[in-house]
Amino acid sequence: MTTLASSTLAIPQNADVPRHVAVIMDGNGRWATRRFLPRAAGHARGVQAVRRVVEACGKYGVEYLTLFAFSSENWRRPEDEVSLLMRLFVQTLEKEVDKLEEQGVRLRVVGDLSAFESRLQTLIHAAEKRTEHNSTLNLTIAANYGGRWDILQAMKRLLRARPDLASDPQAIDEAAFGEHLSMAWAPEPDLFIRTGGEQRVSNFLIWQLAYTELYFTDEYWPDFDVKEIDAAFEWYRSRERRFGRTSAQLAQSR
Ligand code: IPE
Ligand code: IPE
Ligand code: MG
Repeated sequence: MTTLASSTLAIPQNADVPRHVAVIMDGNGRWATRRFLPRAAGHARGVQAVRRVVEACGKYGVEYLTLFAFSSENWRRPEDEVSLLMRLFVQTLEKEVDKLEEQGVRLRVVGDLSAFESRLQTLIHAAEKRTEHNSTLNLTIAANYGGRWDILQAMKRLLRARPDLASDPQAIDEAAFGEHLSMAWAPEPDLFIRTGGEQRVSNFLIWQLAYTELYFTDEYWPDFDVKEIDAAFEWYRSRERRFGRTSAQLAQSR
């Protein structure tokens, strides 16, 4: 499975609608500040944008939607903002799981969850369990996630599962390693979207983004709507995904 899901090992199927969309939801704070509102208001509005995007992706037939909600570096923010984000996460999980269930959405959370208070961990596990039979859309929330954390935890899990590899590092290959990444069950993202104007990856899925098309928009996350998704998907359709080959080779294979 991992071999097929890896864009550097095999050329993935290409379709008009991206199979896996990964989003850095950025700009909540600036959205609020611009309106002389507290940053908290921007985060609250950001939840509405999440709802819109989940619905639209389900409708468009996206199979995997991965949203970066809290990075391993976001702990550096002022304590009151961190605790507000945690409260919002709890409230959103409590409120939205019924709706996800109705929409046939399977929810998963990836990241180092051990840093979260136990109530949040319990809620996460319950929501994952409750929606595990759904298959319309695989929604993944990356929380206390960092791409480097992911690579390191995969390496640790690999060595735990295969202690023999420690004395035979030559035998470690991409497929064996990839199986232990936190999203090994998903194909790599086809389309990456970052709102808020910054053009950086901020330690998101750094391994998995190897061949992803990168789309950046100045729009702040709370303003991101179906029109914006349409624009991103239209841009995606216009990309020539060569995966190392030439344009002429692509034309021939069509
Ligand atoms: C993204 O918006 C949400 C999180 C990182 C949790 P920001 O809070 O980073 O908003 P800006 O970048 O300060 O505007
Ligand atoms: C990235 O946003 C993380 C999330 C959206 C959760 P940040 O706003 O924290 O990114 P940087 O640190 O400015 O790059
Ligand atoms: Mg930001």
